[in-house]
Amino acid sequence: MRGMNSACVDLIYLDPPFNSKANYAAPIGSKAAGAAFKDTWTLTDLDVAWINLIEAKHPALYRVLLAAMTDSDKSYLAYMAVRLIEMRRILKPTGSVYLHCDPTMSHYLKLVMDAIFGRRNFRNEIAWCYRKWSVAAGQFVRNHDVMLFYAGDERTFNPQFVEPSAGTRKRWKGQRQQAVFVDGVRQARASYDSKARSPCPDWWEISVLNPNAKERVGYPTQKPLALLDRIIRASSDEGGIVLDPFCGCATACIAAEQNQRQWLGIDVSPKAAELVQSRMRDELGLFYQGAHRTDIPQRTDIGKLIPYNDAKNKRKLYGEQSGCCAGCGELFRANNLEVDHIVPRAKGGTDHLSNLQLLCGHCNRVKGNRGMEYLKSKLQIAA
Ligand SMILES: C[S@@+](CC[C@H](N)C(=O)[O-])C[C@H]1O[C@@H](n2cnc3c(N)ncnc32)[C@H](O)[C@@H]1O
Ligand SMILES: [Zn+2]
Repeated sequence: MRGMNSACVDLIYLDPPFNSKANYAAPIGSKAAGAAFKDTWTLTDLDVAWINLIEAKHPALYRVLLAAMTDSDKSYLAYMAVRLIEMRRILKPTGSVYLHCDPTMSHYLKLVMDAIFGRRNFRNEIAWCYRKWSVAAGQFVRNHDVMLFYAGDERTFNPQFVEPSAGTRKRWKGQRQQAVFVDGVRQARASYDSKARSPCPDWWEISVLNPNAKERVGYPTQKPLALLDRIIRASSDEGGIVLDPFCGCATACIAAEQNQRQWLGIDVSPKAAELVQSRMRDELGLFYQGAHRTDIPQRTDIGKLIPYNDAKNKRKLYGEQSGCCAGCGELFRANNLEVDHIVPRAKGGTDHLSNLQLLCGHCNRVKGNRGMEYLKSKLQIAA
């Protein structure tokens, strides 16, 4: 995501690990065999360094991270926070984001989303309700996931409609009824319209995939196409760009393609890339022509830049840092400081001044081709 231009996507749906404290693997013999991911979290030096960086640059978000009750939760939230910050940057002002999670972390994630996307941009907490006949001793069966929907005032939103419930249909005595609103006020009289359907509420009854469902590929945590179909129709227009940064077996990508949207899927698992290609071919009969990249794209929205270690950059940074190394904080003469990429180029960092800093020779060698969180964690260990 770091290599993507700012304000370039219309809709982001993300279904990341939920902090379920479980590890997932696809069954042997299924199309997804070989796919696996870990959802267990322990606080590492790197997490602490990330949290310190968040403290410096995003104080409101830092205060939310402090609310985490355990180190494992803190590690999970730091992981989510750094990715959500990047999503905020690449989302268009007209765009929407849907974060799929479950009640394990939804209350913490809502605070993180408020801090990053703005509390006033919170639109809905959608409950995806399904039926699974599991046994729950001493409590109600947990049968819903949560989707946190954020979008600004200029958002794209195409209202969606659902079939009225059986009870409502009975009350309407077989006729369909539509409430009439004049200047936002509901009128006593209702008109009758045989095609009327109810506006979609914030709880969605959509079945989980049954073991024999045609669309099932065996990917652990695969979501139904119907769920993504509704999100994509509601919050994007034809030709719009949909991003799923944890795309798994490509459910969002398939739904986007079916609805004539452009799409991008990202996943850490190489198996996911294979599944994107095979599902496009098998389910849509497409001669798949999409690009599969394993390199980091380079941003093209930051203009033509001077060489990163140009004397002009060095002078400017020396002033901004008051002559101190951005790692150890010691004061140095200008010729003992070196220009460094905060986010390394190999990880999508640019030559733009906002991604440059001065480090002393020692800090620069320790950091090498890694991120600041690595240098900070090494300096903490040495302290
Ligand atoms: C809950 S699953 C997504 C399932 C997907 N919505 C579907 O319908 O198939 C989470 C995905 O996140 C991926 N993942 C885990 N850590 C990641 C990371 N750091 N970056 C990108 N993807 C990651 C896993 O490989 C897994 O495919
Ligand atoms: Zn230093």
